[in-house]
Amino acid sequence: MAGDLKFPKDFLWGTATSPTQVEGHVTNEWTDYVAADGGHCRVACDHYHRYEEDVNWMSRLGVNAYRMGIEWSRLQAAPFAPLNQKELDRYIHLLDCLKTANITPMVVLHHFSNPPWITAAGGWLNPSAVPAFVDYATKLVAALKERVYLWNTFNEPDTYASLTYLLGGFPPFHKWRFASYRKVIKHMAEAHAQAGRAIRNAGGGGKTPEVGIAKNWTSFGAFRAFAVWDHFLAAVSHYAFNRFVLDEFLGGRRREASTFLGVNYYGRARLNHFQALVPTNGVSHERLKQLGVVCDDMFERHPSGFGALLRKFHQRYGLPIYITEHGAASSDEDFRIRDLTEHLRELRAAMDGGVDVRGFFYWSLLDNFEWQFGYSKKFGLLSVDFSDAALPRKMTRVGEFYSGICKAGGTVA
Ligand code: NOJ
Repeated sequence: MAGDLKFPKDFLWGTATSPTQVEGHVTNEWTDYVAADGGHCRVACDHYHRYEEDVNWMSRLGVNAYRMGIEWSRLQAAPFAPLNQKELDRYIHLLDCLKTANITPMVVLHHFSNPPWITAAGGWLNPSAVPAFVDYATKLVAALKERVYLWNTFNEPDTYASLTYLLGGFPPFHKWRFASYRKVIKHMAEAHAQAGRAIRNAGGGGKTPEVGIAKNWTSFGAFRAFAVWDHFLAAVSHYAFNRFVLDEFLGGRRREASTFLGVNYYGRARLNHFQALVPTNGVSHERLKQLGVVCDDMFERHPSGFGALLRKFHQRYGLPIYITEHGAASSDEDFRIRDLTEHLRELRAAMDGGVDVRGFFYWSLLDNFEWQFGYSKKFGLLSVDFSDAALPRKMTRVGEFYSGICKAGGTVA
């Protein structure tokens, strides 16, 4: 990286995973799902058994923070049930390994998966999911408050609600059910408000608890300047996926439930004849190249949008921000290194302009189960060879590059 990017001393340089994507051996709505490439999550990276090894890898990387999920379906066998002590102990041991390694945990309570009894009751369409989630959060926080002060209630509620009820990508695979989308967001926002209050009231071991959601941010636009209908669809998408969701979670009295705003930023989607010009929509790399649309294997890259977004969030909400996810999926490591560099520059410039950003979590620690795309998207700082039953991890060049940044506290000559 040319030049110095200096970050505050206590800045969190982290990485992130989620239970269904890395742990394996989960019993939730993904267990029997088979992805487009034939992959399933039943073993995934076997992080469930190999977390100690993975914490050692984190130490080698030099990260000082880890955003990890705790899988609700492991901890509660029924609504309002006591937490499963054996599973809790395993997570406690993981948290203790992180502590020994001087790695601060941020715990995510909901990352695209639910206990089977929530699914059987109609998932997040059923208002009973709200008190059940709040009960889970309250019990978990009471059990872990001496070890965890950073809590992330919901990961990308917009992605979850849209892929379950609008786009048919996540179980239960429904399409164009707008009322259901709206209902899920409303229930999750209420659950966040109540759980947020419980988390803040619980106190903790010395550090004041912090709580927030992680909002995925995709900006929508039209590819062609005068394509009126594409502009219209972009505006509707922006309203449904961004504005409405943020208003529900952070509007009115709900604003006080959050002490921070988590941002997952990957890029933008530009519409061309109602089609998003992104690889996840089936548009080929050749076509995107012809059109001059720069993408990883998932989305269009748009680093300047990152800086602009951070300034906008800072002005609108005035909350401290964590970049709860950024990363790129590609077998071209130079591309991924460039992508990271460009986004960190934007981040640094926004912070220079007064935006209060407290940490950055690279997605992801490991190559992992990328939901409907299976194992074909390579996001890892460590690669995992899924064709080998031993699931060997290997440092990537991006991992080495990020490690240099973490170890130097953001300064890389
Ligand atoms: C956001 C999600 O939180 C995560 O589960 C996913 O793997 C990454 N984006 C990459 O698509």
